Formats: sequence, C-alpha cells, structure tokens
Amino acid sequence: MSERTLAIIKPDAVRKNAIGDIIARYDKAGLKPVAIRMMQFSKATAEGFYAVHKARPFFDSLCTFMVSGPVVVLVLQGDNAIKKNRELMGATDPAKAEAGTIRKVHGANIEFNAVHGSDSPETAKFEIGYFFAEMDVVG
Ligand code: CMP
Repeated sequence: MSERTLAIIKPDAVRKNAIGDIIARYDKAGLKPVAIRMMQFSKATAEGFYAVHKARPFFDSLCTFMVSGPVVVLVLQGDNAIKKNRELMGATDPAKAEAGTIRKVHGANIEFNAVHGSDSPETAKFEIGYFFAEMDVVG
C-alpha cells in the first residue's frame, strides 16, 4: 500500500555533508521524495514538532540540537513507506542500529542520530501537515 512518511535529515548529518548520501538511500529503497524543504528550525518549531516528548528528560537538549543548524525535511512516498523508512534508518540509538542503516553509518549517539522518520500513520499525518500544505506535495 502506497503511503507517505515524514523524514528529517538532522543538523548533524547536514553538517557532515551527508544530505546526498541519505537521499540516495531513500531513492534506492523506493522511497520517492514528493516534497523537500531545507530550513532552519526556530525553538518554537522544534518544540512543537517534538511536543509528544515534552515530558522526557531529553526534550530541552533535543530541541537545542534541532535548532543548531539547518535541516532537510522531506515527504517520502512508497509502498509501506513508514516501516520501510524505519528499517532504513535503524534503531534510534546508532549503537544498536543494524549495519548499513543510516543511523549506524551517520549517527553518533541516541541524540545526534542523523535522521528522523514518522513512526505511525497518525504521526506521519501530523508531521507532514506540520511542514507542508497539500499543494507543496507532488505525485
Ligand atoms: P527521533 O526519531 O527524531 O525522535 C525523537 C528523538 O529524541 C530521537 O530521534 C532522538 O534524537 C531523541 N532521543 C530519543 N531518546 C533519547 C534519549 N534517551 N536521550 C536523548 N535523546 C533521545
């Protein structure tokens, strides 16, 4: 079933010039970018995006990291896009991620973990709508 998911190439991955490598991995996996936006998060943007984690001890640190430099936000479309992207990313903690996954290759630790991907259809709907209007998404 074709579906959409939201991906973010985080500031650590942008800093290490990994945008091209990561997008190539989406392409090869059949996750077609249907919207791409490079942007600098404000604190409010980061806090709103991660509002579900507000009570977590890492929330402030996570938001500080996410505003530390530009990010690339993408909508990816394909069969089982949500699950496929999560497999491609690997575990949240790069130390626990399987070999060859994006987080294993580009992540440093559980916070600086290179990429984000939606974890459910409900989350994907919220996250895509957080950054894109329907007219921004092609295909
Ligand atoms: P992401 O997939 O963007 O979703 C929430 C983010 O919070 C996660 O990736 C990590 O960057 C971060 N995160 C999750 N758990 C922890 C943790 N235990 N300590 C620090 N950061 C975390």
